[in-house]
Parts: sequence; structure tokens; C-alpha cells
Amino acid sequence: MLQIWGKTPLKGHVTISGAKNSALVLLAGSLLCSGSCRLRNVPSLVDVSLICEILVALGVKVARQGDALVLDASDLTSSKAPYELVSQLRASFFVTGPLLARLGVARVPLPGGCSIGDRPVDLHVKGLQALGADVQIEHGMVNAYIRGGRKRLTGARIYLDFPSVGATENIMMAATLAEGETLIENAAQEPEVVDLANFCRAMGARIRGDGTNRIVIDGVPALHEADYMVVPDRIEAGTFLIAGAITRSEIMLSPVVPDHLTAVIAKLKESGISVVSDAPNQLRVIPASSYRGTDIETLPFPGFPTDMQAPFMSLLTVAEGNSMISETLFENRLQHVAELNRMGADIKLKGNIAVVRGVPKLSGAPVLATDLRASAALVVAGLAAEGMTTIQGLHHLDRGYEHLEDKLRGLGAKLQRVHESTALSAPGNSEETVPSPLAECASENTPSDPLSALI
Ligand code: EPZ
Repeated sequence: MLQIWGKTPLKGHVTISGAKNSALVLLAGSLLCSGSCRLRNVPSLVDVSLICEILVALGVKVARQGDALVLDASDLTSSKAPYELVSQLRASFFVTGPLLARLGVARVPLPGGCSIGDRPVDLHVKGLQALGADVQIEHGMVNAYIRGGRKRLTGARIYLDFPSVGATENIMMAATLAEGETLIENAAQEPEVVDLANFCRAMGARIRGDGTNRIVIDGVPALHEADYMVVPDRIEAGTFLIAGAITRSEIMLSPVVPDHLTAVIAKLKESGISVVSDAPNQLRVIPASSYRGTDIETLPFPGFPTDMQAPFMSLLTVAEGNSMISETLFENRLQHVAELNRMGADIKLKGNIAVVRGVPKLSGAPVLATDLRASAALVVAGLAAEGMTTIQGLHHLDRGYEHLEDKLRGLGAKLQRVHESTALSAPGNSEETVPSPLAECASENTPSDPLSALI
């Protein structure tokens, strides 16, 4: 578990890692290439190592070179993704489109729901069917074949009932090797979709309109080798902006693409917290002695990102006045409310709406992380709280934040990861024994590089 001693001002610069939600789909996209691709700035995360294991199971040779991964998909040996791996990572469903386009068949376990919602894949399936695939779902398996024994999918006009990120990405990848033109209407506009389109173009794909709600793909017979750099993680960057604001600290972060955070920065400004950009790929949060509540509604990009909802809620728990937060994308993404209330917040829940009444302070408490972004919300709340907060359920955090504790310690935060057994038994291990941020905290189990085991 993580022990955090709050009320410590932060200062300095933090380096933002490559984007998890881009790296995952780009790694799946490497299946489209009939040669070898090099992806740089790939974060070392549990989710990344899981999708790499799936690629290896399909016959991709994966090698690490520093922060880059070299993926050789020239000789795929299987079209079936292993259940035991796919069941741990929803994003692994992204291999369906590339496998189908490359091999004419894909057999991928249906990704179950997760703690934030049911998360069906009906839009993915409808899109692949429109491109000429026969898709059967039996015994928890999605079996997709190109109809009529054809070698390639066929371009089509596809309207998405909802601008799903995953469905847009899966369909776009499949369409790169289809015959003819594909038009995706009501497409997702997230920066990760654009990053994927850039990677596919680097491999020779013909795509335009990504970043808008109409994406056009002209299929090509094959894609070639490419060397590509994953975009910085806008959600990790947003989380650090919140860490600075909630501790009334001035911190700088880079690399970051400010345009990827427009909605988050606008809401911070609405609360009275300034964020400036002194250089093209850099942001600085300017501390405010006090700030006010604001209302948030999560929406597809360029709306306010659902992945920032939980950390932003932590910030609003100690704002002056009330805030109303509506989570419109996932039906079960407010589980952090109960844990924040354990820390002294005053939040009332009504369906998918949380009404946050600002309180003067939070106080440290033992809390449980229920999903990835909820764990980030508890970390930033712990940084602002009086006394010690202990967070359990860190496997959620390790899925999506690279070296978070080291980065926070680099900014002066006082925290350490300890094994529950030692935390509970260590004599005098209470509030007083605050580790100095510089001391090499006897952090046990700080996650090593999850990829090292694989490669
Ligand atoms: C991506 O998930 C991200 N994950 C999520 O980040 C993020 O929250 C989400 O986009 C929205 O921005 C990755 O990129 C790996 P969606 P995805 O398809 O693609 C419904 C994090 O914390 N839907 O846009 O699964 C769905 O149930 C994660 O890093 C269907 O109904 O999101 C949801 O309500 C969590 N049918 C909504 O659309 C479908 O076929 C948005 O889902 C697909 C989706």
C-alpha cells in the first residue's frame, strides 16, 4: 500500500511519460505491418506488458531498446488471442481489427466489463461487419472472418451511434488494408485516435480527417516498417496539474501538448487556478491561495475527459462553494466518492451526478482504490490531506501511471510504498515517522519494469 504524508508543498519539474491509451492501441496497430516497427516513448506499465504478451502469443517478436519497443510482425503464427491475457486487459480487443485485416480471421475473447462499467463492444463488431466481416460471438469468443473467402475487407460508410474511442480505432485500423474507401462518421476525436492515424500513416496508410468526427481511409494492399514516437500522456499531465493546484504549489511539467488539455485547463481557470505555457510543450500551474467550485460534465473529446473526472473531484472537495459533477460516459465511475468522504469530503451522489460541497480540509485516512483514475484521485487527495493517508489497491495505479511515486518524490512529496505486513507491524510506524523525500525510502515493491520479465 501507499502511505502519503500530506500538506507538503511541491515544487520543480516533472517529466510526463508516453500516453498509455495511445501506446496500447499503437502496439496493437503494429500487427498491420508486414515487417518491423519501432515505437519510442512507450511507458513501462502493467497494461503495456500485458498487450505485449498478447502480441508475442500471436507471433510478434518484441524487443526493447531503451524506451523503445521493436515489434516484428512479419511472421504471425496465430489469429487467436489467449483468454487468460485478454481477460486482464480490455484494450487487448484492439487486436481484432488489425488481425482481421492482416490475416482475414481474428478470434478474440469478448472483453468482460470492468469496475467502471459494462463496456460492450457492439460498435466495434458492427463496424467490422460493415467492412465485410462475418462476426460470430459464441462461448465468450468473438470469431471474425472475411465473408465469402475474400482476402481483404471492403471499404464502407460507417456511422457510429456513439463516438467510441475504441470502436473508431479498431475500425480505422481494419480499414487501412481494406479494398476501397471507408468513411467513419460520428468518429471519436481524441488525441489518441490522431496519434494512431499518424502511426498508420507512417506505415503508409492513407487516412484523413482524424481529429474530426469524419475520418476517411483509402485502403492499401500492405503497410511497411515505421519508426514512431508515442504522444505524451494528457491524463498523467492533467493529474499532475491537479497535484500542483490541490497542494497550492507551482510545478512545471513537460513534454505535454497543451491543446490536449484545453477542457481541463479551462475548468481549472474557472476555479481560479491559472495554468500557463512558457514553452510550446510545457505547462506550469500557478498556485492560488483559495479557489472556487465549478460544474463538470464528462464528454467525448474535446469535452471534459472522463479520465480526469476523479482527480478533478478531489480538487473540488476543498474548493470554496459547491460543484456538480456529471459522469456521462461510464455508468459506474463514481466509486471514489465514498473513499473521499472517508477523508472528510462532503459529496452527495444521485445516480451519475455527484454534488460536492467544499470543505476547509481533508484528513488522512486508510482508503481503497477501486479503479485506475480513482486511485489517482486518492493520491492527490492524500497530498493535500492533514496527516497520513494509506491507499490500498495499488494494482490499479500501476496499470496507468509510470513511476508515479518517484516523480512525486522528485517534486518533494512525502510518500512511500510499503508492504501491508511491514506497515502494520513496524513499531512507531505512524504519522510521526514521516520519511524525508530525499531519503531512499525503504519502498518495498515499488513496481520494477513490468516489461523486463517479457523481453
Ligand atoms: C478509451 O476506452 C480509454 N481506454 C478509456 O480510458 C477512456 O475512459 C475512454 O476511451 C473514453 O475516453 C483506452 O484507450 C485503452 P469508448 P474505450 O469506447 O475505447 C460505450 C483509462 O482510465 N461503448 O469511447 O473503451 C462504452 O460502454 C481508460 O485510461 C458502447 O456502448 O471507451 C462507454 O460508455 C478507462 N459500445 C462509451 O461508449 C461499444 O462498442 C465510451 O467508450 C464501445 C463503447
